[in-house]
Amino acid sequence: MSDARSIGVFDSGVGGLTVLRALRAALPGESTVYLGDTARVPYGTRSAQTVITYAKNNARTLVAHSDVKALVVACNTVSAVALDALRETVAVPVVGVIEPGARAALLASSTTATIAVLGTQGTVRSGAYARTLAALGHTGTTAAVACPLLVPLAEEGWTSGTVPELVVDRYLSELPARVDVVILGCTHYPLLQDVICARLAAARPGSVVVDGAAATARAVAEIVTPAPAAAAGAHRILVTDAPQQMATLGPAFLGAPVNMNAVELVDVLMTA
Ligand code: DGL
Repeated sequence: MSDARSIGVFDSGVGGLTVLRALRAALPGESTVYLGDTARVPYGTRSAQTVITYAKNNARTLVAHSDVKALVVACNTVSAVALDALRETVAVPVVGVIEPGARAALLASSTTATIAVLGTQGTVRSGAYARTLAALGHTGTTAAVACPLLVPLAEEGWTSGTVPELVVDRYLSELPARVDVVILGCTHYPLLQDVICARLAAARPGSVVVDGAAATARAVAEIVTPAPAAAAGAHRILVTDAPQQMATLGPAFLGAPVNMNAVELVDVLMTA
């Protein structure tokens, strides 16, 4: 049995292209439609209620535009607060990034490990990683540090050198004295992974860094009916504002050129 429909992916903006990248690497035959809500980014500083409303708008917009077979919520902030609401909004399976990231952290350590997450203010405030880890049997200590400056640094391309090092050092100083695993709980942080790993090695030797994107791609692979054998995936990108940003910012996040012929400006459906 096969299913040629696309996998839908959405995020607050360009950051979710890091998750799309992992998805395309893990499932090269699958077609994808990515929606970046570039008109309303960032979500990480907004209230949970606003993020839920925006997430439902995006899910409806994506499903109305393309007949997708699953919806991947690439945004950690949305995954932290809106998964239940999204599952009531669309009829296709919805996969977020928090549970795969939490599973990856446990696989890299143990149920008694000290696990810390770096994320947006919204993700940290939600407590979603700690809750999910506990539901998966984790009994160790958890910590969460909001790192809001890392999003603009990644978008500016300031991913190495003194400025990101100082900012990362400042955030890592808020971690507990001993940490076994640090989860990169935001779409943008993989761009800063080298700096984070290097500074963490100095600040908290022995800890490992986990990025949930690859684990999310595996979770998607487990639930979708695969594309027909030998299919070559086709990829579309929808944005709610400033399509040209996809050409300038997109490649660093996607790890590949962005085909601007496949980028479309859409109106977000505002129905709640
Ligand atoms: N995509 C968001 C996340 O992963 C980061 C950017 C934003 O704040 O919208 O939480």
